[in-house]
Formats: sequence, structure tokens, C-alpha cells
Amino acid sequence: MTKDLLKLLDLSKEDIVQILNTADQLKYDQKHRIPHDYLRGKTLAMIFEKNSTRTRVSFETGMFQLGGHALFLSGKESQIGRGEPVEDTARVLDRYCDGIMIRTFGQEEVENLARNTKIPVINGLTDFCHPCQVLADLLTIREYKAVLEGLKLCYIGDGNNMANSLIVGGLKMGMEVSIACPEGYDPDPKVLDFAKSDPSHKFSLFRTPKEAAVGADVVITDVWASMGQEEERAVRAKAFAGYQINDELMALTNEGCMVQHCLPAHRGEEITAEVFEAHAQEIFDEAENRLHAQKAVMYLLMKDKED
Ligand code: CP
Ligand code: NVA
Repeated sequence: MTKDLLKLLDLSKEDIVQILNTADQLKYDQKHRIPHDYLRGKTLAMIFEKNSTRTRVSFETGMFQLGGHALFLSGKESQIGRGEPVEDTARVLDRYCDGIMIRTFGQEEVENLARNTKIPVINGLTDFCHPCQVLADLLTIREYKAVLEGLKLCYIGDGNNMANSLIVGGLKMGMEVSIACPEGYDPDPKVLDFAKSDPSHKFSLFRTPKEAAVGADVVITDVWASMGQEEERAVRAKAFAGYQINDELMALTNEGCMVQHCLPAHRGEEITAEVFEAHAQEIFDEAENRLHAQKAVMYLLMKDKED
């Protein structure tokens, strides 16, 4: 494994498989009340410069279940919010803690943090990517479908952090990935370059959701306006009209097609209430799997190396 989890582009297929297999084991242990306090006495600092429900609760609970402790640092209330350089914050947390989870805006802030500390850094979402969420998505799809390789993953909507991580994670795991987003809202060029970099990658980018959804085994969407884009909501609502997961779109997919949504969801925008409720079991299993996938990441990155 790498020292940090900064983006899925840094991981090999074997790293992802190791995380998913470890998550399966830790989930089994938790469900069967088998002690798994491998991070006894260790502390995770959690820096949040954006809002969160799932990421905060799943990291904090996960650290507790692993026998360790998590502490919450709000960007606004810590010295980070008053401009203390990230390099200094990194070198201070290094002296107290065993790992750092950070949710922020720029990917470069997370990369800079990781370069300046010896302890593992975990990306809990940036504008560029959301690796922990996509590890949970892959875990959920594998639970339902038994394999990932050869399945068709279809993403409809904004070419945002979720789209970027789904393209990379899906292709690395041998899935076919098809995306539909309006012009001007494409995934990051680095991610599109990655998709084109290997002739074995099955990747398509469409402008209409229907073209992307045909024959899909899993359909995924996300909000049209991400955190930090609140002022663009009206403009985006117009740009994304028609990029909705609804019954008509689901009719084009394979039988037993799953729906995933990282949440929070906006019913009536990127997904109808009907499709959301018909797939609520899969969507809330996905939310639960944040806990198990992140426990695997924390275990693999933060355990004593001689373990
Ligand atoms: N999906 C997700 O990351 O949720 P939160 O924003 O609530 O952490
Ligand atoms: N794309 C969304 C994901 C939220 C979990 C955002 O960045 O706000």
C-alpha cells in the first residue's frame, strides 16, 4: 500500500482489492462482534473545511471500533481558518497523531499536507475526488454482483469529484465506464487522460443520458451543485435538466441494475423519488459501507508496520 490515500489514481488494482477484502473481513468482525481493535491507542485528526454527515460519523465511529480515537477539527475554528500554513499544521499534527483525514477544496492542499508529514493522510473529499466514497461504492457493487470486472458502470450528471473517482476506480477494477454530462461539465482532463491511457479501458463519454445508460449494471449520480458551488445552483439546474435518473432511463438498463448515490440526494433533480426509494436498500448499504471501507483504509495505513 501507499503511505497515504490521496486519490485512486495513486492506487493499483491490487491495492483496491486489498482494501475491499480487508473491508469484507472487518465488516464480518463487526457484525459478529469479533474484537478488531487493531488501532488501540492511536489517534486520527479529522480536518473539515466543508460540511459532512457520513464522512465525519463513519470515520469517528470506525476509529472507535478499531480501538482508537478520532478528533474533529473544524477549518473555521482551528488556526487553519486564520491562515496557518498547511505545512506547519502537518508538522504539528505529526507530533500528536497517527493519521490525518482531511476534507477540503483543493487537491493540492491534501497533497501538500501529505508531503509535509510522516503520518498517513486520507482524502475525505476534495473538489477533484472522493476516493473513500468510491471504495465504498465498489464494495457495495461487489457485494450485490459478486464481481466488478466486466460490469457496466454508468454515471449521469456533473463531471465532478464523484465522477472523477468513479471513472478511475471503475476502470482500474476492469469495469466498463460510461458517462453522460452536459458540455462544459466534463470530468477532469487528468482523469480523461487516464481513461484514454490504456487500450484495455472501456470508457465512453456521451452528451445524452440514454446513450450512456443502455445495458448498465449500475447507474450512479450525484448532486448538480457540489459544496462550494451553491451560487451556481440556478445555472446548473438549467444545464442539467434532463440529466436525471428516472424510470424511463432505468428501463434501458440491464435487469437487476443497481442505483448508487453518495448522498445527500436531491429528489426531483438528479434522481426521482420513485427511483431513489426503489433502490433505497442499495443506497443505504452504500452509505453503511463507508464505515467498513474506511476502517480498512485506516487499518492498512495506520497499523503498526510489524503487525
Ligand atoms: N457522501 C458523503 O461524503 O457524505 P457527507 O458529505 O455527509 O460526508
Ligand atoms: N459532489 C458532492 C459530493 C458530496 C458528498 C460535493 O462535493 O458536494
